[in-house]
Amino acid sequence: MIIEPRTRGFICLTAHPKGCEQNVLNQIEYIKERPVKEGPKKVLVIGASTGFGLASRITSAYGSGAATIGAFFEKPPKKGRTASPGWYNSAAFEAQAHKDGLYAKSINGDAFSNEIKAETIDLIKQDLGEIDLLIYSLASPVRTHPDSGERFKSVLKPIGKTFTNNTVDFHTGEVKEISIEPCNEEEIENTVTVMGGEDWQMWIDQLKAAGVLSENFKTVAYSYIGSSLTEAVYRNGTIGKAKDHLEATAFKITDSLNDINGKAYVSVNKALVTQASSAIPVIPLYISLLYKVMKAEGTHEGCIEQIERLFNARLYAENLDLDEAGRIRIDDWEMRDAVQAKVLELWKQATTETLPEIGDLKGYETDFFNLFGFKVEGVDYDEDVEEVVNVPSIKE
Ligand code: NAI
Repeated sequence: MIIEPRTRGFICLTAHPKGCEQNVLNQIEYIKERPVKEGPKKVLVIGASTGFGLASRITSAYGSGAATIGAFFEKPPKKGRTASPGWYNSAAFEAQAHKDGLYAKSINGDAFSNEIKAETIDLIKQDLGEIDLLIYSLASPVRTHPDSGERFKSVLKPIGKTFTNNTVDFHTGEVKEISIEPCNEEEIENTVTVMGGEDWQMWIDQLKAAGVLSENFKTVAYSYIGSSLTEAVYRNGTIGKAKDHLEATAFKITDSLNDINGKAYVSVNKALVTQASSAIPVIPLYISLLYKVMKAEGTHEGCIEQIERLFNARLYAENLDLDEAGRIRIDDWEMRDAVQAKVLELWKQATTETLPEIGDLKGYETDFFNLFGFKVEGVDYDEDVEEVVNVPSIKE
């Protein structure tokens, strides 16, 4: 079928298999030129199909030849209905990895559940014996708790008082003020339950009990801090509480891994356009100004550049360069004073009229469509393509 983007708000309902494939191949090429010396060999990535998780899978496989198991929650295609982009990404990744002689298998389902954890452990036992790296890159608005069966929803709200600031609708370019009412206590707890560290800890506990973690095992989860412009709704808001919990969990996990000399880290990453971040109010305006500033100074990075730097300059380098709270920082270029000062200055000037000039709205929009395999260079969108594409290791 001929596949075109069909957007609704901050999501796109269709995805293009060839565009997703091209995105994956571009990331693979990037990593092939930047091998990771003494990198990981057997890797599990939770949230492996898009964004930072996909980049982590590609960096593991093509940086140091790692066998990868990727877990994710994606919608498979049907005749006449496209899959979600993470499905097409994973199909393309696996197909290419297999061609290149790399082990790659995937598990599609709810990673919060005990069933998916058990299935993953069985697969590790059967095929790899153990893993030496687990990347936890899950971003989800909901979680069904595996013990109680209760379903929790996260919210993106400020705490304590109403937050009013500008945001942009990147489809229309309209800059407008929004107000977000503060959350209640229960919403904080629910957001922590969904996006905090409990599930990460459960994964590690169950993997360890099954005896599938190697000596010197490492695990990394991703966090965000960001600027004073977004802090009321992000770092000091409900999601920030969840990130505080995730960061505290890293220390608990490290304690629990003493006997195998295991370590858990949180890496604070840069703000980037992903499906998760497009849903957060105010972030799109911040990102379009940030991109403009960082592209102008030549320090802009996407997910693959970020994760390559995480592996090569931190995780598998001499010095992790941890901050005062024990976190890895690859948001260091975003957080430089000069960059933040420029973004703040531009923020004051940003209106519907000025944004196309002072911000990188085009870059934001292109990145957004790229997430779904659209507007990707070298792809012929007039071509009739097969929408039913399999992930080789997933049996229907
Ligand atoms: P994303 O939306 O691109 O990826 C989310 C991944 O989680 C996908 O692979 C999806 O299939 C998987 N997933 C969602 N629910 C699942 C479930 N129930 N079971 C199994 N898999 C599930 O998100 P992104 O942006 O790459 O986020 C990953 C992590 O990075 C998050 O913790 C996020 O907070 C963090 N981060 C994101 C930043 C950004 O600007 N995008 C910046 C810094 C950190």
